[in-house]
Amino acid sequence: MTDTTHSPRVFSGVQPTGTLHLGNYLGALRKFARLQHDHDCLFCIVDLHAITVPQEPGKLADQTRHIAAAFLAAGVEPDKALVYAQSAVPAHTELAWYFNCVARMGWLQRMTQFKDKAGKNSEAMSVGLFDYPVLQAADILAFKATHVPVGEDQKQHLELSRDIAAKFNRDFGEPAGAPDFFPLPEPLIDGPGARVMSLRDGTKKMSKSDPSDASRINLSDTPEQIAKKIRKAKTDTGGVPGEADGLEGRPDIANLVSIYAALADIPEAQVLSDHAGSQFGPFKAALAEVAVEALRPVGDLMRRYLADPDELDRIMSRSADGARALSEPVMSDVRRIIGFHGSAS
Ligand code: AMP
Ligand code: TRP
Repeated sequence: MTDTTHSPRVFSGVQPTGTLHLGNYLGALRKFARLQHDHDCLFCIVDLHAITVPQEPGKLADQTRHIAAAFLAAGVEPDKALVYAQSAVPAHTELAWYFNCVARMGWLQRMTQFKDKAGKNSEAMSVGLFDYPVLQAADILAFKATHVPVGEDQKQHLELSRDIAAKFNRDFGEPAGAPDFFPLPEPLIDGPGARVMSLRDGTKKMSKSDPSDASRINLSDTPEQIAKKIRKAKTDTGGVPGEADGLEGRPDIANLVSIYAALADIPEAQVLSDHAGSQFGPFKAALAEVAVEALRPVGDLMRRYLADPDELDRIMSRSADGARALSEPVMSDVRRIIGFHGSAS
C-alpha cells in the first residue's frame, strides 16, 4: 500500500438489493475478509445508494441484515472490522453534499454505470441515481480511506473519487490549499474473481439484475442448485485446453477456468494443466465439487446469522458508533476548511 501521508484504511460498500452471487463473493466479500487481518477496515451496507432506485420500505431493513450476514459469513469479524448501515452514519450524506459542490456535471455525465442503468430514459431517473458516484466518494473519504476493494466494474467510480479528493484538496483551505487533506483512494481490484462472468454468456458480467437465475450462482443456492447451474453453464464442443492461449476467443470456458482457480485458490495455469484435454462433463463435475465445498460454509453461516436478527442489529449498531467516531474529526476539519460559521477552531 503506497500512500505514505495517510495511514492505510480500507473502505468498501455493497448495496442491499437483490441476492448476492459468486461475483460479489469473489470480487468483494472474500477480499474483505482477507484484508481485515492487517488493515483498519470499514464494510458498509449502502442503503442510501439503494434508494436511488425505488425500494420497498418494508424490505429494506431485512435486505440490509442480509448483506451484513453475508459479510460475516464470508469471514468478516465484527471485532476486527466495522460492519454497518450507511444511513446510520450522517457523515455520508453531509460530505456528499459538499462533494456535490466540488464535482462537475461533466464528470458525472461520463459515468458509464449511470448510462447503462438509465438507458434512453435518463430524464425519468432520480437525481440520486445520477449523483450516486458522488455519494460513493463521500463514503470513502469521510473516513479518509486509502484503499477500496471492489470488482472491476467500480474502477470508473473510484477514478471519480480520486478526482473529487484532488479537487477538494486544491480548492479549499489554507492559503496553499490543503494539498494532502484527503488521500486519493486506490481501488484494490486485482486478483482472481475481479470480473466473474455470466454462466449463460461469458461476455456479460455475472449480475444480480440478469433476468436469468441460471446465469449466476447465488450465495443462497443449495449444493444441488449450484451443481445444476454449473452443469448447464454454456461451453463449446472443444475440451479444456492445456494452456492459456487455448482460452482465446472462448469467454465461456475462460470464465469457468477462472472461477475454478479463484474458488480452489490455485493459479489458472494449474487448473489448465490438471484438466488438459478433459471434456466439459467431467470438468464441470470437478468445478461443481470445488464450488459447493467453497460456498457451503458461507451459505450455512449466512443462514445462522439470519436466524438471529437481533445479534446482527447489535453488531451493526456498535459498528455504526465506531464509524461515527471515526468520521467526526474528519467532518469537523472539512467544515472548518470550507469556512462555515461556527466551525472555527
Ligand atoms: P453490486 O452487486 O453491484 O452491488 O456489487 C457489490 C460488489 O461486488 C462490488 O465491489 C462489485 O464490484 C462486485 N461485483 C459485482 N459483480 C461482480 C462480478 N460479476 N465480478 C466481480 N465482482 C463483482
Ligand atoms: N457502487 C458500489 C457497487 O455498486 C457500492 C458502493 C457504494 C461502494 N459506496 C461504495 C463501493 C464505496 C466501494 C466504496 O458495487
